[in-house]
Amino acid sequence: MNKIVSTLLFSTPLIFTACNPTTNQVVPSSNNNHTQEVINQGSTISSTVTYANDKKAIKNRGMLHIKSFMETLQPTLMGMIQSDPTYKTALGACSTLGQSMADDYNRASDVKIRRTALRYRNPKNKPDATDKTVMERFLATKEFNEPLVVDMGDSYRVYKALEVKQPCLACHGENISQDLQKMLIRKYPTDMATNFKLGDFRGAVVAEIKK
Ligand code: HEC
Repeated sequence: MNKIVSTLLFSTPLIFTACNPTTNQVVPSSNNNHTQEVINQGSTISSTVTYANDKKAIKNRGMLHIKSFMETLQPTLMGMIQSDPTYKTALGACSTLGQSMADDYNRASDVKIRRTALRYRNPKNKPDATDKTVMERFLATKEFNEPLVVDMGDSYRVYKALEVKQPCLACHGENISQDLQKMLIRKYPTDMATNFKLGDFRGAVVAEIKK
């Protein structure tokens, strides 16, 4: 087994997150009994977020879906990276297959899963005001292991932070191969998800659970 493949195998729980799209987004509500946090982002959006991190059962349920969604993508993407270590096949798959797999997952489940980022590649993954506020918090605290729960009024959101690991760098790092760069520019002309370094905050997986 070569070095890249073995690194990837050991990072499998994270690599599948390479491929999934946005679904629906919910407008934040101002209903709150828990901690509130407002983050002003310059002259752009500021959002009041109602955290409900004491809701352990909700947190666990969200994490169960986040993990099980990631595991749906695992075998397909890993197979592609092993058979084509240039990542070209995997990159192509991230754009098409990842999308349909997430749609399938969301159709079959009452909990909706999506990914988002402050510096996003696909505009479909653009964060809403709540996403931004929560991700600014991850960025500030660097506490990537502990998921955050937000009370949206008629639903809860569970946010799991994604950290940049070694295998992510091939497609999100500072030295992306010429071939991959060409594919990226063609497919994502407004790509902001490059030049990340190991250990950076990359984005979040979000589970939306109806009340
Ligand atoms: C094979 C190339 C590849 C690898 C490796 C990869 N990604 Fe990505 N990533 C992509 C592509 C392509 C997209 C855009 C997917 C889409 O169109 O929805 C993406 C999107 C994302 C998104 C969604 C937000 C956005 O920017 O649109 C996150 C979050 C993400 N990647 C995190 C990671 C993390 C964390 C790793 C490492 C564990 C990783 N990726 C590894 C290619 C890759």
